[in-house]
Amino acid sequence: MSDFRKIARVEDVPDPGKMVFEIDERLIVLVHVGGDFFCIDDVCTHDGGPLGDGQLCDHQLACPRHGARFDVRSGKALTMPATEDTVAHQVKVVDGDVYVKLNVD
Ligand code: FES
Repeated sequence: MSDFRKIARVEDVPDPGKMVFEIDERLIVLVHVGGDFFCIDDVCTHDGGPLGDGQLCDHQLACPRHGARFDVRSGKALTMPATEDTVAHQVKVVDGDVYVKLNVD
């Protein structure tokens, strides 16, 4: 069971931009693009590459290791060599504070 946790201020993450955070020993990437925030695991499903070090292009984040692209809105794997989606987490913004709720069982 996970609740929303405040992890940043809106102005902490440039638009477009991204930042890696750790919650409960889990690394996540907070993405700011087009005025909206999204959050996915900092883990590429191909071979564990750090997505937070990858290049952001619109709503796609490319793994820095072999280039698989993920949709930051859903965690969906868009291109090879990744075939499995990564985990997307819920984000909300209240009074300029950014909150994330981990998607855990
Ligand atoms: S580890 Fe991400 S594409 Fe290979």
